[in-house]
Amino acid sequence: MDVKIRVMIPEEEIDRRIRELGAKISQEYEGKELHMICILKGSVFFASELAKRITVPVTLDFMAVSSYGNDTVSSGNIQIRNDLAESIEGRHVLVIEDIIDTGKTLSFLMKMLQERKPASLKLCTLLDKPDRRTHPVDVDYVGFEIPDEFVVGYGLDYAQKYRNLPYIGVVENE
Ligand code: IMP
Ligand code: MG
Repeated sequence: MDVKIRVMIPEEEIDRRIRELGAKISQEYEGKELHMICILKGSVFFASELAKRITVPVTLDFMAVSSYGNDTVSSGNIQIRNDLAESIEGRHVLVIEDIIDTGKTLSFLMKMLQERKPASLKLCTLLDKPDRRTHPVDVDYVGFEIPDEFVVGYGLDYAQKYRNLPYIGVVENE
């Protein structure tokens, strides 16, 4: 079976949007230090590009979470596979995610991080699929709103593949 990938968002458009987000974030955090939390693995590519476009001092930390993917169980149904290396208490924290789909992962994670007493806590996602939301999440910065299609590339995978594509695409079987 051949796999074809249809481009949904080309590389140039992603670059342009990341520059815009970087400028906006730099303006809103002016005079502060920003602590970015990259959610592994999907947001690595986005977080790296975004960090380069931010002009206030930036520190980075990483967290790996996995969802059990069973919607019939409550929103606490995610697992922390790798916790942060540093405390976030008193820091201006910006969580960087690749995509918000049902909102299950991030609604849980944001509540958990809030309990660690950051000075502020915001959320930035490259992609948002609002049609699929079952768990409400406050999203502060969105790269692109997309329709309900399964996308890959720019960090997003299908069975761990395609993360390295420089664009966002849709897998189409032929
Ligand atoms: P949520 O908890 O349903 O919001 O989704 C969380 C995770 O599901 C994301 O961080 C992705 O890892 C994965 N995911 C959701 N939609 C897609 C997609 O279209 N492509 C690849 N991964 C996705
Ligand atoms: Mg993810």
